Parts: sequence; C-alpha cells; structure tokens
Amino acid sequence: MPAFSRELGIDLGTMNTIVAEGKQILLQEPTVVAIVVEEQKMVEWGRAARDMYGRVPDSIEVTRPLHFGVIADYEITENLLKDLIKKVTGPMMIFRPRVMITVPYGVTSVESRAVHEAALGAGSREVYLIQQPLAAALGVDLPIGTPSGNMIICLGGGTTQAAVLAMNGIVTAETSRTAGLKLDEAIIAYVRKKYGLIIGQPTAELLKIKIGAAIPQDEQKSMEIQGQDQVTGLPRPANLTTDEIVEALQDPLVEMINTSRRVLEKTPPELISDIIDRGVALCGGGALLRSIDKYLTKGLGIPAYLVDNPVTCTAEGAARGVVIREALRRNLPPV
Ligand SMILES: Nc1ncnc2c1ncn2[C@@H]1O[C@H](COP(=O)(O)OP(=O)(O)OP(=O)(O)O)[C@@H](O)[C@H]1O
Ligand SMILES: [Mg+2]
Repeated sequence: MPAFSRELGIDLGTMNTIVAEGKQILLQEPTVVAIVVEEQKMVEWGRAARDMYGRVPDSIEVTRPLHFGVIADYEITENLLKDLIKKVTGPMMIFRPRVMITVPYGVTSVESRAVHEAALGAGSREVYLIQQPLAAALGVDLPIGTPSGNMIICLGGGTTQAAVLAMNGIVTAETSRTAGLKLDEAIIAYVRKKYGLIIGQPTAELLKIKIGAAIPQDEQKSMEIQGQDQVTGLPRPANLTTDEIVEALQDPLVEMINTSRRVLEKTPPELISDIIDRGVALCGGGALLRSIDKYLTKGLGIPAYLVDNPVTCTAEGAARGVVIREALRRNLPPV
C-alpha cells in the first residue's frame, strides 16, 4: 500500500492499545504512561511505562490515561496517540494517516469528541470513530452486513460490551464497567479476607490468568504469591488454587452475564432466533479466562464461543472499517 494512503484502525483500550492496517497488526502496547508529576509530561508509554509500575520515585507517576474505556486524561492521551502514530508511520509524518478509532458503546458525545480531537491533534488527517462491538464484529467477520442477527460480547479490561448487530449497525447493546479490572479487584478482596494479605493488581491479574477460571475445573492449578500481611505489614506467602479463584470471581461474573441478558431481553425475537442458530461470539482479553465460554453458554442458554482472534479483532475491524467507511457511515458515532 502506498505511503500516502495509509489507513489505520486503532483499538484504544483501557488496558491495551492495538494498531492495525489491513490484516496486519502494526503495534500492540499496554495503554500505560509514565508522567513526570510536576510538569505533567509523558516520559514513557506502553511496555516501557508498565515495567516502571511500582518501581518509581514520587516524582513519576505510572497511570492508565483511559478509565472504563473513556479518556480520563486528555492531554496525555493525545501525546500517547501522537507517539503511537509516529511509531507506525515514521517520524516525518509527511503523509498523515486516516484513522478509525474505537470508543465504547454508549459513550457521551463529549467523551467521543475528546477521542476525535485527540486523534486529530495527534496528527491524523481524518478521524472516524467506531463503537467497539461493531469494530470487533467486523474483525471476526460476522455477517453483519445482512439483515440477520449477530451477537458479540467484548470482555475487556475496563468494560464489558454486549451487542446485537444487523445491517452494519448495532441493534441493541449495553456497556458495563464490570470487566477484567473488576475481576482483579475481586481477587484482591478475596485474598485479603481469607489470608489477611494485601496484594496488588498485577499479582491478582497474574493469578486470574495463570490459574483462574470461570467454573470449577477438573485440573486444579495452584500458584504461590507474596503478599503483605494486613496487620504486621511484613511480606508473607500464600498458595492459591483454581477453585479459590473461581469462587472469588463469581460476583463480577454474574454481573457480566446480567449485562448480556439485558441486551437479549431488548432484542427483537426475529434476531434472537438467528443468534440461537449462530451462537454468541466472545472477544477481548477477558474471553481468554478459562471456561468463560461454558459459563456464558449456561448463563445465557445460547452457545457462546471464543473467536479466533479475540485480542486483535477490534483493531482489525477498525482497520477494515476505515476502508468501508461509506457503507458504515450512518452507523458510526457522530462527532
Ligand atoms: N488468559 C486470560 N485470562 C483471563 N483474563 C485475561 C487473560 N488474558 C488477558 N486477560 C484480561 O483481559 C483484559 C484486557 O483485555 P483487552 O486488551 O481486550 O482490554 P481493553 O480493550 O484494553 O479494555 P476495554 O475494551 O475494556 O477498554 C485484562 O483485564 C486482562 O487481565
Ligand atoms: Mg477493548
């Protein structure tokens, strides 16, 4: 593709940002920045910033500029996008790219305008926004251009977004803030209550990924962690098992099911019968939690399946969306 017609899809997620062009993933980095507090200046981003987490003096703050999928720190997000775009297009930026960038379903016009402005300020030539579930559905090739019903659930870090799509648009959808980070918080609370130990979010996330599951497993795994004793403040180990993580995760998992149920309740019956035939697509990093497909299948009464590209589909779909933007025009969020 010639350099002057670059068209990028950007999945700007709470936890991870992915840039795609065509079917190619150009960049995949944690949505984390390191800021010099006094000047509010970004000094690192992505993996480099994440690796600084918990290892910096007070003068530097390591944070996520997006909360629940929406921009919490405008200037920092603009700088982050600037660096991202520079990294994929080269430092000269003679030919500014056309980008399509994701926003969660249901954001306010102020929130979506902030993303639009930030992407323009970051050096894009033209900026289009797309709701994350629509981008994800495009990225997994669901036949959403037809009048048939398709359902997708995006299990992200800051948001769970469930949507029914037809005719290139969202028919019914809902966004909940109960997602990956809430699962981590549930593990933190469990370990504190049961073992009197304080652990951080990264440790909780590791437990979830390494030994966690949505339902009890035949194969038990275990993992030793180091926590800080709630009373003495001293380090102390504990050994956690799969069953314990399953128990810890139940409350937020029920909330995720309820979000998806509410979407189905609002969906016209003609589309429901299509969804029963086709099943519910699961994507996002949270879809990698062991047996979450079985858990949702049981909870919804409709087969749920993990897509082939759960982590990258949203960026790939946005990259496709920017190419077919005319066909999507009526269904994209206004700015
Ligand atoms: N194997 C795994 N098991 C369980 N959870 C996982 C696994 N791998 C990643 N995750 C979780 O997936 C989440 C990140 O997913 P993703 O990158 O799709 O989120 P995001 O797009 O940045 O967030 P959002 O869409 O909510 O803004 C994190 O909470 C992470 O802990
Ligand atoms: Mg996401």
